[in-house]
Amino acid sequence: MNRIQYTLGCTLLLMWSWGNVMAQLPSKDQFINDLLAKMTLEEKVGQMSLFTSDWDVTGPSLRPQYKEDIKAGKVGAVFNAYTAKYTRELQQIAVENTRLKIPLLFGYDVIHGHQTIFPISLAESCSWDLAEIENGARVAGEEAAAQGLHWTFAPMVDIARDPRWGRISEGAGEDTYLGSLIGAARVKGFQGESLKSPNTIAACAKHFAAYGAAQAGRDYHTVDMSIQTLYNTYLPPFKACVDAGVASFMTSFNELNGIPATANSFLLKDILRKDWKYNGMVVTDYTSINEMVAHGFSKDERQAGMQAATAGVDMDMQGAVYMNHLKSLVDKGNVPQAAIDQAVRNILALKYDLGLFEDPYRYSDEKREKMIVLSQANLEAARRMARKSIVLLKNKNNALPLRSNQKVALIGPFGNEKRSLIGSWSAAGDWTKSIPVLAAMQEKAPNNILYAKGCNINDDSLQYIESALQTARSADVVVLALGENWDMTGEAASRSSLGLPGVQQQLFEQIQALGKPVVVVLMNGRPLCIPELDQKADAILETWYLGTMAGPAITDVLYGDYNPSGRLTTTFPRSEGQIPVHYDMKNTGRPFDANNKYTSKYLDSPNEPLYPFGYGLSYTDFTYSKPFLNKKKMKRGEKLNLTLTITNAGKRAGEETVQLYLRDLVGSSTRPLKQLKAYQKVNLQPGESKTITFFIDESMLSFFNYDLQYGAETGEFDVMVGPNSSNVQSIRFELQD
Ligand code: BGC
Repeated sequence: MNRIQYTLGCTLLLMWSWGNVMAQLPSKDQFINDLLAKMTLEEKVGQMSLFTSDWDVTGPSLRPQYKEDIKAGKVGAVFNAYTAKYTRELQQIAVENTRLKIPLLFGYDVIHGHQTIFPISLAESCSWDLAEIENGARVAGEEAAAQGLHWTFAPMVDIARDPRWGRISEGAGEDTYLGSLIGAARVKGFQGESLKSPNTIAACAKHFAAYGAAQAGRDYHTVDMSIQTLYNTYLPPFKACVDAGVASFMTSFNELNGIPATANSFLLKDILRKDWKYNGMVVTDYTSINEMVAHGFSKDERQAGMQAATAGVDMDMQGAVYMNHLKSLVDKGNVPQAAIDQAVRNILALKYDLGLFEDPYRYSDEKREKMIVLSQANLEAARRMARKSIVLLKNKNNALPLRSNQKVALIGPFGNEKRSLIGSWSAAGDWTKSIPVLAAMQEKAPNNILYAKGCNINDDSLQYIESALQTARSADVVVLALGENWDMTGEAASRSSLGLPGVQQQLFEQIQALGKPVVVVLMNGRPLCIPELDQKADAILETWYLGTMAGPAITDVLYGDYNPSGRLTTTFPRSEGQIPVHYDMKNTGRPFDANNKYTSKYLDSPNEPLYPFGYGLSYTDFTYSKPFLNKKKMKRGEKLNLTLTITNAGKRAGEETVQLYLRDLVGSSTRPLKQLKAYQKVNLQPGESKTITFFIDESMLSFFNYDLQYGAETGEFDVMVGPNSSNVQSIRFELQD
């Protein structure tokens, strides 16, 4: 035995015989080299296999014998298992029974909270509040870590521009710039300063790549896009996660231009490893290696395993393809041993960084679990985040805020709904703990709330409408809580028509016909096509699914205890026929002209969406001065300053999100009409003004050109500022060599 082996032996002994006592390990490289040298090929393949426990199954298959597999050293990681007790139990199986006692890694979809559920990711993105979003991820990570988890399958940073796709709810909307900032904030929140802290968990940027561009918004569907769109629109949020130090990546289910992402060495090697210098771990999505057979890319699972392993996929989620075929693929020379060693190295490195070799049980801590999970502080953070996620879409004649002496009829299938509040991917969240709108409103205005359900969420029964009309008649104002059921968005939840399901539209029409002011509170996980609501409702609050504290947060906004500040991060189409519609489209050679038939338009719909990207109202009014640019010509390497003054011209304190967009007028390949490049949040008291400055530099003008060269091109640009993407003031300037 040489000295290194001896040291390793001693530390291993210390570690596993003293349980929680932390041991000093050799450096990561040395430790992993030593361990790798001891591992058989079977043990290596074992590390590369991830299986779900039977606590929560998030895909189409389960491997019932997973515990025996762990015992036999055939499993490196487990997902969908949590609580300090259960993870300790499973960890014990691995540590006490396998030859090298390598600890398991526990993963879970901690997407928007763990037990304290925060707003769905799309909702959070509407806050445009990076600090609060980072904090939400931190809280989720802390709760998850206290329940024995090491790793979350988040953030999802897929840009999504098709609201038919149910998974639009899981991301940060349609914009690349904002999506990149939010992805990085979430990574920082989950991972904190150090993975070694028992309060933090490893993040996972998913789904790599371009999953959000599934054809026709149908989940798992084909993706076919230009390489320039891939580079300019879909990849930057992933790159931002790499720059933020994300510990893992997940491949996506889709194919991209004919090659499934799970065997796409252009994505996994050329871009991720070579260009971006990423050195973390790569896991597949749920059985996505196996699915390459159905894609028509692999003749059988064995070939699929070979393709994934050689493309640089480290860990097989749930497919058992590596388990069944990898050893013999290596034995027969179809997969190089070096590929296996690299994959195992990446996996062991993560376990090392998490401190699992020092103490495999350090996260499974029942005392911490009791203290942290669903703590008052966490619930308050969730309520704060929820208030900031709400977007006021309409407010005719100041129908909102309500006054606590008004008689309010709360009507609709979401008035007393609890399950939907926590949305999909609600991790270990317990929906019975979520506070519905009814309870929160009753607490706010104890004697002034009437309630009627009105109808179910998604059936055609009209039986409750009459009594809802009765209830509405005796009120001063109606709050109508409408939307889609939680499982109508998320994975495998695409919809082809985006109106209100069931008879909710009818309920709205009949209530509205009573002539009382009607405030619609929407709960949904995607933009809905709601032109009639927009026309006839007095006020509309988009509340998405706001999590455990949804009811109190909505009530805070309804009664003006919080002045709504959310801004849309996803365009609301007027109708499904406009999809895809997003703010950064191109001009075309025949831009819209109402007087010319032969221009780019519809015969039966305006081009403009119902609500544009960046849109959202407040209970106060903000006015914008004319923006001023310090000079109109800019040399490479220089900066321009744009200044403007924002004034709160209304009667309440409020927060404005000032947005800056840029357009490159002539490019070596055509450029979008505008792209968000910066924004600032400004808090103003009534009557207060603030002057703000934006700096414009070359990086904000840069893009990947036709040959994938990144940089800014000289010529004219328009810089635009305003409260949303379609209401801007513009100034022209020139970039010169
Ligand atoms: C989803 C992933 C998720 C995984 C594990 C898959 O079906 O696409 O987003 O992380 O399941 O639950």
